[in-house]
Amino acid sequence: MKKTSNFFQQEIVDHLKNNGFVFSCSEIYNGIANGWDYGPLGVLVKNNIKKLWWDHFVTQTSNAVGLDSSIILNSSVWKASGHLDNFSDPLIDCKECHNRFRADKLIEEFTDESVSENTSFDELKKIIDKHHIVCPMCGKFNWTHIRNFNLMFATQMGVVDEVKNTVYLRPETAQGIFINFMNIQRTMRLKLPFSVCQIGKAFRNEITPGNFIFRTREFEQMECEIFTYPDIKKDIFNEQLNKIQNFLIDVIGLNKDNIRLNEHKKEELSHYSSRTVDIQYNFPHGYSELWGIADRGDWDLTQHAKFSKANLWYLDDKTNIKIVPHVIEPSVGVERLFYALCCDVYEKQQLEKDERIVMHFPKELAPIKFAVLPLVNKLSDEAYKIYQQLLKDNISSVYDSSGSIGKRYRRQDAIGTYYCITFDYDSINDQCITIRFRDSMEQKRIKISELQKYY
Ligand code: GAP
Repeated sequence: MKKTSNFFQQEIVDHLKNNGFVFSCSEIYNGIANGWDYGPLGVLVKNNIKKLWWDHFVTQTSNAVGLDSSIILNSSVWKASGHLDNFSDPLIDCKECHNRFRADKLIEEFTDESVSENTSFDELKKIIDKHHIVCPMCGKFNWTHIRNFNLMFATQMGVVDEVKNTVYLRPETAQGIFINFMNIQRTMRLKLPFSVCQIGKAFRNEITPGNFIFRTREFEQMECEIFTYPDIKKDIFNEQLNKIQNFLIDVIGLNKDNIRLNEHKKEELSHYSSRTVDIQYNFPHGYSELWGIADRGDWDLTQHAKFSKANLWYLDDKTNIKIVPHVIEPSVGVERLFYALCCDVYEKQQLEKDERIVMHFPKELAPIKFAVLPLVNKLSDEAYKIYQQLLKDNISSVYDSSGSIGKRYRRQDAIGTYYCITFDYDSINDQCITIRFRDSMEQKRIKISELQKYY
């Protein structure tokens, strides 16, 4: 089946739900709109993705450090960053069925008119009227006027319910990095260019979440803020563009034919960006943003310096001049990368006699590395010892003794287990096991003592 279709989206959703990767959030209470939980296998894959990202962008990168900042920040942060005034979408309601939509997305979906962040509400409404766009839910043409809808989730801090106690769940992890710029640079004695990286939850009250886990209201971001001299930022931007594509293709293992770049037009840029390039993936619903790189200039540090009165500058030790560094920001959602990976590695394979579903996760991303399978129950005790040794060695493994060996192989293929190990009658005497390779289905007899070579 073509991987870019609604049918494939349903197939992958069903597969991930039925095999312990993703569950509907609050399912026993009929769910919560577009909320998802990550099951026992989903959490393993997400953790593997985060580890590889951290290894690649922090541990193996010179002048890169990490941060774990709070989700709830002083509300002045969002005034200074522009999120209180600008982080909103144009909302339109159907007066008949009361469903709500993003006016710009309705236009994009049903016309070929181009709209941007800067298209005025009046213009958006005129386009909707001109094309007589009806409500996609009830088919009627009876719209409210368009108004601003801020995407930040607001809540109250403390016991007194007053406007001045309103705080926001962060819509991006980036601001936690900017407001800690001084702390990080000075304590770590960092010299430009340097990078501060963070993985953490972000929240957006999206008007139209959807396409499974592609757009949700709660998600995790992996962001780097690269502080740099302005005159070399163009090179850093291009270096990052290459580094990310290499990471996606060589480390995560995505098929390069499913990746393309999209340079934002001037009128599409966010309020803080002077250049943005999206690395898009060919999701089941079509090419869409997987990872974004933005040139945020000195917007954030300048704004925070202005609002907080803190000295957010960098003293260049060569010239002894104070400068406000510029920032290049690559940012990706963990769940989007997880979704892209799952679509990419999923295969329904026709075999000689039957078919199998196989998830071709690269070894480092596979949720389970080894499945230990005793040929018959009588051999359980000895086989179980191998399983216990794998756990002791910190290798993600399962033990499965139920069903025919063929069925057990299929179960493991479907969740992407990298190796299956079969313990049979001969194993007791020759201390050998059969190791089966997921992708080729080849089998090889090896000594139990050699197993570590495959870790
Ligand atoms: N700090 C910059 C920033 O937040 P963004 O393009 O709004 O930029 C960065 O978000 C990345 O976060 C996106 O490329 C996407 O991978 C992920 N993301 C954004 N909104 C999301 C949502 N509602 N659901 C899931 N992932 C999302």
